[in-house]
Amino acid sequence: MTNRTTLDRRALLKAGLGVGIAIPTKSWAQPPNRARPQPGDWLVFDGGENSGQRITPDLLALEQRPVAALAKDPATSTLRDGSRLNRVMITRLDPTKLSEATKPHAAAGVIAFSAVCTHTGCDVINWVEDKLLMACPCHESHFDVYNGANVVGGPAPRPLAILPLSLESGSVVVAAGFTGRVGFTQQF
Ligand code: FES
Repeated sequence: MTNRTTLDRRALLKAGLGVGIAIPTKSWAQPPNRARPQPGDWLVFDGGENSGQRITPDLLALEQRPVAALAKDPATSTLRDGSRLNRVMITRLDPTKLSEATKPHAAAGVIAFSAVCTHTGCDVINWVEDKLLMACPCHESHFDVYNGANVVGGPAPRPLAILPLSLESGSVVVAAGFTGRVGFTQQF
């Protein structure tokens, strides 16, 4: 049976090559909604009263509590919501107070950080308003938004990755891929 099957496959392949028929092969391409944000993607609100709307700087108050956002491919309208590693938290900061290393990644002060904590992967959804720090609810890691989300407290081993942004006709778009590895390293 095995020999027969092998022979049948060979015969099919030979016939296909002979007449120019494409033999389908398995595709391992990643679904577009799981792909990381790409340069040129729009940035849209993920939740809240403006959910799904394109982000413009005027829709964010200065130094407001960060809110969730996702990238969207303008060519196909695909929302990149197929992986939680794609989720970012955005706010608007004073460009003159951003660290030199952080400044190039912001657009009119709008900045996007990965929502996934670098400790054990919880969503970084808390905000210490009087210190302007993002905070993880799981083990209290704190991240300084004006200084590239550097860790200023708690067990997180590294800063949150930044998603570089730019402005296109007044709206925020993705300028480049994440600046660092998104997610956490398993601790043993
Ligand atoms: S998962 Fe964020 S501090 Fe532990």
